[in-house]
Amino acid sequence: MSEAVWNKLKGLPKPTLAELFDADGGRLDLLATRFELGDETCPGAIRFDWSKTHLDAAHIAAFEELAEATDFAGRRAALFAGEIVNPTEGRAAEHTAQRGVGSEESVALAFENHARMAAIVEAIHRGAMGEVKHLIHVGIGGSALGPALAIDALARDGAMVEVHVVSNIDGCALEAAFAKCDPATTMLAVASKTFTTIETMTNAESVLSWMREHGVQDPYGRVVALTAAPEKAIEWGVDETRILPFSESVGGRYSLWSSIGFPVAMALGWPDFAEFLDGAAAMDIHFRDTNGLANLPLRAAFADQYYTRLRGCQTRAVFAYDERLALLPDYLQQLEMESNGKSVKVDGSPVDGPTAPITWGGVGTDAQHAVFQLLHQGTNLVPVDFIAAIAPGDDLNPAHHRILLSNCFAQGAALMAGKASEDPARAYSGDRPSATILLDEVSPATFGALIAFHEHRTFANAVLMEINPFDQFGVELGKEIAKQIEKGGTAFDPSTEALLQLAGIA
Ligand code: F6P
Repeated sequence: MSEAVWNKLKGLPKPTLAELFDADGGRLDLLATRFELGDETCPGAIRFDWSKTHLDAAHIAAFEELAEATDFAGRRAALFAGEIVNPTEGRAAEHTAQRGVGSEESVALAFENHARMAAIVEAIHRGAMGEVKHLIHVGIGGSALGPALAIDALARDGAMVEVHVVSNIDGCALEAAFAKCDPATTMLAVASKTFTTIETMTNAESVLSWMREHGVQDPYGRVVALTAAPEKAIEWGVDETRILPFSESVGGRYSLWSSIGFPVAMALGWPDFAEFLDGAAAMDIHFRDTNGLANLPLRAAFADQYYTRLRGCQTRAVFAYDERLALLPDYLQQLEMESNGKSVKVDGSPVDGPTAPITWGGVGTDAQHAVFQLLHQGTNLVPVDFIAAIAPGDDLNPAHHRILLSNCFAQGAALMAGKASEDPARAYSGDRPSATILLDEVSPATFGALIAFHEHRTFANAVLMEINPFDQFGVELGKEIAKQIEKGGTAFDPSTEALLQLAGIA
């Protein structure tokens, strides 16, 4: 049934952005929406402007038909009910329950885990572990990118504890953290859903050795484990009282809301962490209860599908016009590419078209002076998301923020309008799409809603493509081969063998 809708979509005329704005005076009302998070307990608003994309009435109607054909409502209900939505691993995907939106049982368990986490965070802040000035958080992928982003976004005005997120196995990363920390006032958070990831476990061992070498008597006494495998953390040596568990049904790249968010709560304090969860919950409720185009993550997914499947775009770019959100493109890269970079549908059959585009991006205005040439005049059509905040993050001359925002809005306008010139090298084709996400301010609540929006957008895309966004078997083969190399005795291709010999590993 979805095949027929895709065929219809492929056959629809594709007006230009200029034609769409000329034809429909109500375009802005239809495609630019101010999302109010809630009441005074969860303040803030975000404007989602998709009017500079090529979505028109005919495409919107057909994409709404596609959502019906792919049982979007059913798959969404299954997600929130805690049903098995990740069939290849036989798991639910219950990140929304961490925010209080999900099945009664899962929400109750999440609240129990959060209460324990809040108690530990507050006890450490009160001095239960002695003086703690620094926290080295070791984790990788979903166990690192979220905390790093959230702390960078929200704790710039001063953190209660200085957090150093270390992910890479390259010892240079850990050495850089050591250089900033005093072992006597440093604690360690070991963040790993599985508690087996080689980078994280090796880094954790090295932090313990560093503490020992610097005279810390009981390094294990300064460790907190954040994991869905508490038994493995106990086996490794962490005291049960300092293990913060989370449910197996929370996926790694969706785990910032669980105890993986511990360093965020340590940096910001529990009330701000709770506000961050509430902001995400506001977006969850919107996503769960709104249908068709009015559903903001689904609307974004309609545009995403338009560009990847109907216009052949192989990448999508995200530019944060806000220094505090500089790590957002990295975070979204994992969220989108690990979730939706797939070749088979949920039923195991091959997909009918491209899946996730390559997500890339950077920070504005820096990127304007580096990569925007290609966006404006290159032969690749790249849909761009601009993300900015009305309230500045700095206290300097207001000119800084005014120029920042003017540049952000100018780029979207320029991409769309283009500019004719008799000199072909100086001509801009225009008709290049962008979307703008404008936060009133970067607060824990709006930031939570922004991240939840992207999680749901990723899920909505997966439903429209009929794929499972919650497994990631693609990362396993490389890990297996790395283990074989470590172990020795396996022969590889001539190129790999030569590299191993040159590096003295073979
Ligand atoms: O290798 C990919 C991955 O499994 C990610 O999905 C995950 O976020 C990351 O590794 C870290 O895994 P863990 O939290 O189990 O250490």
